[in-house]
Amino acid sequence: GLPPADAAVVEHTFSVGNLTIDRLGQRQVITAVNGQFPGPMLEARDGDAVVVHVVNYSPYNITIHWHGVLQRLSGWADGPSMVSQCPIRPGGATYTYRFNVTGQEGTLWWHAHVSFLRATVYGALLIRPEPDRPHYPFPAPYGEATLLLGEWWNASVVDIERQAMLTGGPPNNSVALTINGMPSGYELAVRHGETYLLRLVNAALSYQLFFKVAGHVFTVVAADACYTDPYNTDVIVLAPGQTVDALMHANASPGRYCMAAQVYQSVANATYTTTTTGLLRYEHGAEAAGMSTIMMPSMPEFKDSATAQDFYGSLTGLLRDGKPTVPLHVDTRMLVTYGLGIAPCMPTQTLCNRTRGSVAASMNNVSFQLPKAMSLLEARMRGNADGVYTRDFPDRPPVMFDFTNGSMSSNRSVMLTSKGTRVKRLRFNTTVEVVLQNTAILGSENHPLHLHGFNFYVLAQGAGNFNARTAVRSYNLVNPQQRNTVAVPAGGWAVIRFTADNPGVWVMHCHLDAHLPFGLAMAFEVDDGPTPDTVLPPPPPDYPQC
Ligand code: C2O
Repeated sequence: GLPPADAAVVEHTFSVGNLTIDRLGQRQVITAVNGQFPGPMLEARDGDAVVVHVVNYSPYNITIHWHGVLQRLSGWADGPSMVSQCPIRPGGATYTYRFNVTGQEGTLWWHAHVSFLRATVYGALLIRPEPDRPHYPFPAPYGEATLLLGEWWNASVVDIERQAMLTGGPPNNSVALTINGMPSGYELAVRHGETYLLRLVNAALSYQLFFKVAGHVFTVVAADACYTDPYNTDVIVLAPGQTVDALMHANASPGRYCMAAQVYQSVANATYTTTTTGLLRYEHGAEAAGMSTIMMPSMPEFKDSATAQDFYGSLTGLLRDGKPTVPLHVDTRMLVTYGLGIAPCMPTQTLCNRTRGSVAASMNNVSFQLPKAMSLLEARMRGNADGVYTRDFPDRPPVMFDFTNGSMSSNRSVMLTSKGTRVKRLRFNTTVEVVLQNTAILGSENHPLHLHGFNFYVLAQGAGNFNARTAVRSYNLVNPQQRNTVAVPAGGWAVIRFTADNPGVWVMHCHLDAHLPFGLAMAFEVDDGPTPDTVLPPPPPDYPQC
């Protein structure tokens, strides 16, 4: 579709290439956009058309995903490698992403969607209210700051991923968390008495995070670029992929205050316990107050699931015009179990422990494989999925997982997975409800699930086995939060609902980056609608071929 006549065109060129950079006393070559790390910030207004010319001078295949952008009728610009497109080849190949940002406001981000490259190829994507309605549904902040929380390795991230795939084990841990690309040294200056809008993005590859600022509280106003009812809290929780917009009131006594992002690990034997800090500095009075006022916020325990669930469970969606918008009629119900299991070593996994096996991830016991010859979306357009994918993703798991069944949880290898590229076909405009049951087979890890092409309502979440009879009483059908990424509780479940009103092929996957190549993904194929404005247009002329 065309942008409205009064919309602006936000046009950028992303030149992807090598960048030599010093971090933690070590010089390193990373893949970056326009020589910047993190990459450039994209700013648009609701209703704008965005045009990004990507030129790939890096030694790797590249795609860029606009995380959380709904991509209405523009699935060709979504970005996941081999789902919506073949990658942009090294050596100066190009592809222009064209899409509109309509009906969305808040903080999103963009990142590479091929191998581990999103570790360094990412940036913020801010969508402000449209020009004729320039007001937030909260008092306008005096200032704002975007904080991209990430991870840093003292090694090539492509080597890190290769190692994980060869051994069939988890990737090596990063050496530091970062704020705007810096393991330390981030500083935010504020004026006493003013309110700031913090735009937080969890761009980390493998970890959920707690975020706090000593001596300050926040009012959360949006998550994943969906407005929430104002929620007051002193701690913000973000799973990889998630964003939070929060107002921070600079009303402490002038001085210097520590801010900290810290790993939250739900696994019992958490070994990666890392924190990074930055500084909040009052512009006037801080000097007088002296260094002694730098305070570290008191952080939750690394395994504090109660705090995490309290945060997630407290968010509700802000009603537009006071009316609930949750679809009440459901056409398709699915129950999807997912998690990590153990599979026999693949012949290619030369370093794999032959007795122990390797990590395999699955949804409904299908370990998702990306096609090689052609993207899923291209196969859909050609009307011939043969050899690329099948339309038989199961609505239910072959065997229902049961946490109370000791033999099931102790004999975890019984959760056999088969590899496949199986998608779930959805008729246009039908409503789908998916119960996501985290089987937490290895340890008990939260798996943040991200859906492309849609925001979904999070109707309910809970611990243990999903029980339809009791769970349905806890569904919020009035003002549930909308998101694009849900951190399903470890060993628990979440119920999401969305309407399939965007024709295309949309992947749903774990946003812990290693879990996508391990197969923790599936895809929805959504049919075209009945009218010309509900049909996915043909791909652009420069659409990359494999
Ligand atoms: Cu932010 Cu498919 O990812």
